[in-house]
Amino acid sequence: SAAEKGGFDWFMRKEIYEQPRAVADTLLGRYDSDGALTLDEIRISEAELRQIDKIVVIACGTSFYAGLVAKYAIEHWTRIPCEVELASEFRYRDPIVGPTTLVVTISQSGETADTLMAIRHAREQKARVLAICNTNGSTIPRESDAVIYTHAGPEVGVASTKGFLTQLVACYLLGLYLAQVRGTKYGDEIATIMHELEQMPALIQQVLDGIQPVLDLASEFADEPSVLFLGRHVGYPVALEGALKLKELAYIHAEGFAAGELKHGPIALIDHQLPVFVVVPPQGRDMLHDKVISNIQEVRARGAKTVILVEEGDEEVTPYADVLIRLPRVSTLLQPLVATVPLQVFACELATRKGHDVDQPRNLAKSVTVE
Ligand code: AGP
Repeated sequence: SAAEKGGFDWFMRKEIYEQPRAVADTLLGRYDSDGALTLDEIRISEAELRQIDKIVVIACGTSFYAGLVAKYAIEHWTRIPCEVELASEFRYRDPIVGPTTLVVTISQSGETADTLMAIRHAREQKARVLAICNTNGSTIPRESDAVIYTHAGPEVGVASTKGFLTQLVACYLLGLYLAQVRGTKYGDEIATIMHELEQMPALIQQVLDGIQPVLDLASEFADEPSVLFLGRHVGYPVALEGALKLKELAYIHAEGFAAGELKHGPIALIDHQLPVFVVVPPQGRDMLHDKVISNIQEVRARGAKTVILVEEGDEEVTPYADVLIRLPRVSTLLQPLVATVPLQVFACELATRKGHDVDQPRNLAKSVTVE
């Protein structure tokens, strides 16, 4: 009913608007006044966490994309090698895991069969398994050694939204916690990142408050047969997520690419007026930002219609943007928390305009409990 949806047309839209609160709830109580991260639910001892020599993240769909973001953060902060693998591929290739491997599994529902089978396989190989999950008491956390609950509240829409953003937060918390335990980051560095994480609910709200241009864009693009999404670094998983949302809700062909891969093939797809969304990393010391600007110039020169997600105050890209979507200024690693939101809204709105059932897209189930 409309009341259950809090006055929104879809659970998905309601859940998109719940994200500031959901992210705040994921962060709640993790950080004490002495500036130490405490992840109470982790039942793996600090001594064991110091022995870990490899992390393998296993998940499906949107949760897999959260895992791709986690890899960038965890390796950067902890220097522990981190692989990310689709749960449906993991156990069929005789993966190398053992007692010093930390398997991190990400599942909103906690009931995804592919993921469950993968962690069972990992535990048979004696790996320690930590679940990032939104559903208390579900099967995956029950069969894991440890759990970080995301506390996003029930997610009803088949498309994951607040589930994804809170998974990202849990991954950041895990990365920082491991860095704290292993001493690869100092307390003040962790404090700086935690402080920025604590700003996120307000910044996500800011994105939602300025969402009207994205809604307008959805009506303009409702008849497009194909849309591309590009990003680099953590913007790459954001591009993949933007494309998945469009496929599952609007039934539009969409692809996410690492922008640097364009020249290795996908650039041949660029055609007159093809919509291409690009996530621009924050302006910083590294070359990433400028590389993405060149990628935008390349697709624009070949006729693409460019929709550019870029931080406020960055005007370098303006000459190459047909549409600008402004994002709050945040650090590179945390940018997915703000950059994903317009893409969720875009897919939700476009599917609405096309008359689709946004909460229950065709052929999909909320939790995929068969392999
Ligand atoms: C996301 O919008 C999808 N519906 C789907 O990819 C989902 O993320 C995937 O099935 C994994 O689900 P889980 O997080 O509940 O394990």
